[in-house]
Amino acid sequence: MKITVIGAGNVGATATQRILEKHLAKEVVLLDVVEGIPQGKALDMFESAPVELFDTNVVGTNDYADTAGSDIILITAGRPRKPGMSRDDLLAMNADIVKTVTESAVSKSPNAFIVVVSNPLDVMTYVSYLKSGFPKERVIGMAGVLDTARFRSFIAMELNVSVRDVNAFVLGGHGDSMVPVVKYTNVAGIPLSELISQERIDAIVDRTRKGGAEIVNYLKTGSAYYAPSSAAVEMIEAIVKDRKRILPCSVCVDGQYGLNDVFVGVPAKLGANGIEEILEINLDEKDLKSLQASAHDVKEQCDKVNSMI
Ligand code: NAI
Ligand code: 2OP
Repeated sequence: MKITVIGAGNVGATATQRILEKHLAKEVVLLDVVEGIPQGKALDMFESAPVELFDTNVVGTNDYADTAGSDIILITAGRPRKPGMSRDDLLAMNADIVKTVTESAVSKSPNAFIVVVSNPLDVMTYVSYLKSGFPKERVIGMAGVLDTARFRSFIAMELNVSVRDVNAFVLGGHGDSMVPVVKYTNVAGIPLSELISQERIDAIVDRTRKGGAEIVNYLKTGSAYYAPSSAAVEMIEAIVKDRKRILPCSVCVDGQYGLNDVFVGVPAKLGANGIEEILEINLDEKDLKSLQASAHDVKEQCDKVNSMI
């Protein structure tokens, strides 16, 4: 297993470290446009191997030749959101970056799976899909796993219970229109609505929708990366270990939920073949409408981006 991480910034470097410490690959390549940064970070990580006890070789580079033959390409290249900046403000800036890195990476690794992290997530996943020429099963966006992790964390905080017992998922696009699905949220099997008042559920849903901005407002010079890198690596692990995990992923829907040809967060089975199945679950009328509205927002952005790339 060879994994390439493109973008040696906060998300890319932290994801690389997690991949190494979880022993998910024999070789990891960390690539960035900035000279010295991927080389320095990769060497620093390799020097942790004797302590962390991993045998993986990790290489930092600015040259796509070093990425040849990768099984998985994680795209984190781009600019992070600044305070007051919406994810969509990033559209033009990051579309060009994701287009370039996708074309360069797939020319060296034509059989890889691509996991996209760069924002605006669903649109960048579409850009990567378009520019890779890969089948839909092999281009997957990471957002729902992160948004769901945030939702689960806030519920655990509210009830003072283990995060392990909180089951939930957040669907839709990675933006203010995301859809935390309360109907299927439970704590050790107990429906959330039996444990928390509707008023508090609404507040937690709202906090989840604004979870990215909450971190940006604290950090001021960048956006979240610990939870995002965990989420991306959970998806990579599902592919590497053929786990058949059911995870909310941004995938190209094909008629499910009344949606076609748009990348949006839906529950999907993730295994050795990438997206092995899209699950169509029975949503409340309100959640279905919200999911469709969220997908509509993504589609509008994709139409915009078509003229930019
Ligand atoms: P960062 O600024 O720390 O790192 C980005 C890296 O990309 C930098 O090292 C930069 O030099 C590199 N880069 C820029 N253009 C490049 C190119 N053409 N080729 C190779 N590398 C290039 O940003 P961070 O925090 O790592 O975030 C990365 C992206 O991920 C952002 O777009 C951010 O908004 C997004 N993000 C998405 C999340 C999600 O849930 N989908 C969660 C967190 C971040
Ligand atoms: C987040 O949700 C920045 O999209 C990123 O933290």
